[in-house]
Amino acid sequence: KPFPVLVTGGAGYIGSHAVLALLDAGWDVVVLDNLTTGFRWAVPETATFVEGDVSDMELVGRVLGEHGIGAILHFAGSIIVPESVTDPLKYYRNNTAASRALIEAAIVAGVPHFIFSSTAATYGIPDEVPIREDMPNRPINPYGQSKLMTEHMLRDVAAALPMNFCALRYFNVAGADPAGRSGQSTAGATHLIKIAVEAVTGKRPHVGVFGTDYATPDGTGVRDYIHVSDLAEAHVAALEWLIENPQESRIMNCGYGRGYSVLEVLDTVDRVTNNPIVRKLETRRAGDPDLLVADNSLILKTLPWRPQRDDLGLIVQHALAWERKLAERAES
Ligand code: UFG
Repeated sequence: KPFPVLVTGGAGYIGSHAVLALLDAGWDVVVLDNLTTGFRWAVPETATFVEGDVSDMELVGRVLGEHGIGAILHFAGSIIVPESVTDPLKYYRNNTAASRALIEAAIVAGVPHFIFSSTAATYGIPDEVPIREDMPNRPINPYGQSKLMTEHMLRDVAAALPMNFCALRYFNVAGADPAGRSGQSTAGATHLIKIAVEAVTGKRPHVGVFGTDYATPDGTGVRDYIHVSDLAEAHVAALEWLIENPQESRIMNCGYGRGYSVLEVLDTVDRVTNNPIVRKLETRRAGDPDLLVADNSLILKTLPWRPQRDDLGLIVQHALAWERKLAERAES
């Protein structure tokens, strides 16, 4: 490989899976994480770990120079939508301002490639699905806005300076490393599949179904769930594409292009365990769109990446295997 890469947020859920995918593909990896939501143990021994903040330009500049970093994969950030509504400045600090500092440090150090964790939350409530990248961005919460602002900074920087970038707009990321090396470990989860597997292991008494009157076939919200290891591999493919196409940048959806309703997800969990979890029908959660499904034709056309784990049952199995591991660890 031509150079080592820096992974910010590499001790977190998606970042740690990206670190595994990069190491598996033969890359040298330096992780920068402040461990506010990540875990030191989630970073493999074979990666270099630096504890610190993305917004610390002096530290970042030193790390970039010392290791001769040639690309940054930027996962560090805050991701809880309702929290972004009550504490917007946290999101503009951790997602927008911190990214600005990181991008400037990258430019100063001459790092030519940048990959950014963006989100389908940039679209807000789409006019139609599947959602294409050229559809309007109208985020309905500060989380989506804070990520969109970073996309804009990258676009403007790439137009003016010697850096190209990919922003990957994630749909609903779920599952865990198939080999059991990492998974979603943060306490206080809000994501459906994580909550469902917590209900399986007895960490929760039931799963609430937030809204049964959506404009969807069964009335519950429909989402495009993507296996975290497929998403991680998309980043490795994007990195190779950036190196081969130094004049080009892309913003790409990352999903499978197929939606499942909340009830279909819970049915899948029940089928995997052969044991029904308790469902409670509840009212809508604020700010949830009916239907979010990616049109993934751009990423499929651009990268050689192909999903390897496009199977909701498999996603649930891997999420559950990791949840059981966490439960055992908590007991011992
Ligand atoms: N849901 C439930 N019960 C739960 C949790 C979720 O019924 O206990 C429902 C939600 O209402 C929604 C679906 O399950 O219909 C998925 O909800 P998640 O919280 O798992 O995920 P979101 O679709 O809300 O969020 C995802 C990403 C965000 C991103 C957003 C874009 O996690 O980062 O998509 O809208 F901002």
